[in-house]
Amino acid sequence: MWDFHTHILPGIDDGASSMEESIEMIEHLKKLGFEGVVATPHANPMYVPDRHMLEELRDRLKRETGFDIIIGYEVAMDTLSVHDPEKLTIEGTRFILVELPWFDEKFDYEKPLLELIRRGLRPILAHPERHDHITMEDVKRIKGIGALIQLNVKSLTGGYRREVQRRAMRYMEMADLMGSDAHSPEDYARFISKGVEYYEGKDFGRYKEQAH
Ligand SMILES: [Fe+2]
Repeated sequence: MWDFHTHILPGIDDGASSMEESIEMIEHLKKLGFEGVVATPHANPMYVPDRHMLEELRDRLKRETGFDIIIGYEVAMDTLSVHDPEKLTIEGTRFILVELPWFDEKFDYEKPLLELIRRGLRPILAHPERHDHITMEDVKRIKGIGALIQLNVKSLTGGYRREVQRRAMRYMEMADLMGSDAHSPEDYARFISKGVEYYEGKDFGRYKEQAH
């Protein structure tokens, strides 16, 4: 079982703030039965963390813990018109994790998603349940375009507002992937530990196998 979508690398974004915190997050993952984790720091039009820097941090963390870690990004969708999406994929795969804008209700997601697919990439939409302006109809449309849908376990276990939890429950059937979107050891202790069963059938591990 793999945890998908995490902010586990230290000092890169609003996730783990130190190597110690990253190690603590991995200790939680091991205890919960995970075999690997996908690190997906934020990428936006203004800042894309350098991949070599991410690889170095990953290698250090891997040495310290012996845990399997692959690198990707959580790409704000407006980044795609500024940065080459080929450089923002999940390591060793054609998958790219994308995030909708939080406040732009009129944002046209169809065009960038279709463009990714035209290039032979496979977009994965992060946590649609967390966006108030995204409806069930949107989620169906996005799936229809060919993107995969990823829910946050934390949404299902009450880590955000009640409305987010309700939407996550409703989208469960349509969801392809489960992830934690963990930003801290506390996220694992309080929210992910209560929802490990949600990964069943929605584990990134099997997609990763297909990619190799
Ligand atoms: Fe995230």
